[in-house]
Amino acid sequence: MSAIEIRLASRPHGAPTLENFDLAEVDVPAPGPGQLLVRNTWLSVDPYMRGRMSSAKSYAPPYEVGKVMHGGALGEVVESDVDGFAPGDTVLHGLGWRTHAVLEPKHAAKVDPDAAPVTAYLGVLGLTGLTAYAGLFDVAGLREGDTVFVSGAAGAVGSVAGQLARARGAKRVIGSAGSAEKVRWLTEELGFDAAFNYKDAPVTDQLAKAAPDGIDVYFDNVGGEHLEAAIDSLNLHGRIVVCGMISQYNATEPTPAPRNLSQIIAKRFTMRGMLVGDHQHLRPEFLAEVAPMVTDGRLKYSETVVDGIRNAPQAFLDLLAGANTGKMLVRLQAPPR
Ligand SMILES: NC(=O)c1ccc[n+]([C@@H]2O[C@H](COP(=O)([O-])OP(=O)(O)OC[C@H]3O[C@@H](n4cnc5c(N)ncnc54)[C@H](OP(=O)(O)O)[C@@H]3O)[C@@H](O)[C@H]2O)c1
Repeated sequence: MSAIEIRLASRPHGAPTLENFDLAEVDVPAPGPGQLLVRNTWLSVDPYMRGRMSSAKSYAPPYEVGKVMHGGALGEVVESDVDGFAPGDTVLHGLGWRTHAVLEPKHAAKVDPDAAPVTAYLGVLGLTGLTAYAGLFDVAGLREGDTVFVSGAAGAVGSVAGQLARARGAKRVIGSAGSAEKVRWLTEELGFDAAFNYKDAPVTDQLAKAAPDGIDVYFDNVGGEHLEAAIDSLNLHGRIVVCGMISQYNATEPTPAPRNLSQIIAKRFTMRGMLVGDHQHLRPEFLAEVAPMVTDGRLKYSETVVDGIRNAPQAFLDLLAGANTGKMLVRLQAPPR
């Protein structure tokens, strides 16, 4: 039996393409003493991976050309001589983009497949959910009665952020997304008060219309024109949490700062970047609050599932192009028994 891994073939210039990825068939790796062999069942593809495909210095080291890529994954333990891990256990870990992984137990977290659908741990109850929670409550300091604008609102982080703002007493929650169907999902199913398709007309105009009394919090997943629009609509002492700037990830030239940044003086607003890794201490309270909301359906989530490791690169390209609603995941088939 062989394993498959996806390697970075070359660094993209601008938007990545399938040429930037290589698929390699390799032997199933053999675990050493004290290690686990895991057969991956689900892979996460995420926008931050675009950054790791480039050589630019950032918070996560660049992927190496010619080497297998990394990312969040769920898998089933196949071999273990480690106390606490048995064949059949489901584990969450960071060696995605491959069918099989050898792991030190300290890098594998067991998840209970009976507590929630396991994929939730890659999305709504995992890092993406925690990002929304930390960004909204720890960084932006959401208060009851705030009007909140979330960009990338139909994505994994954005869809959770908007619903959490609503659940914690926001006065009005507004979202932007890239299709009419996503806009419908936000307003008709997730409880956003208003949403718009940012491709239909200038974001500044659409946001001003959706928020006639201005916004107090902007949860930024997109940057660029969205950030400028949010600054225009921001109320006195407004707060911006910069979670992501996906509109700029494929830029080949430095992108201009928001042209209206000088409003920071008159409006005395704050703008703070965030990295979910700094907020891991919130995980217990996040799970205590959000897991029951997921279980009883108060917080809805969606997953877009692509099948097969061979389609993982395309799933990643499709994520950047907006093919997903909610979390983008790659499902790996179990080998025939
Ligand atoms: N700071 C942190 O710790 C942290 C952690 C996780 C994620 N993030 C960031 O949070 C953001 C969302 O991540 P996610 O995992 O939830 O991904 P996601 O939102 O599920 O997927 C990415 C979405 O971005 C949208 N998009 C792509 N290009 C765009 C553009 N030019 N303008 C506007 N929207 C565009 C697409 O939706 P449309 O159809 O709406 O265009 C696409 O579905 C990303 O910026 C990511 O880098 C940050």
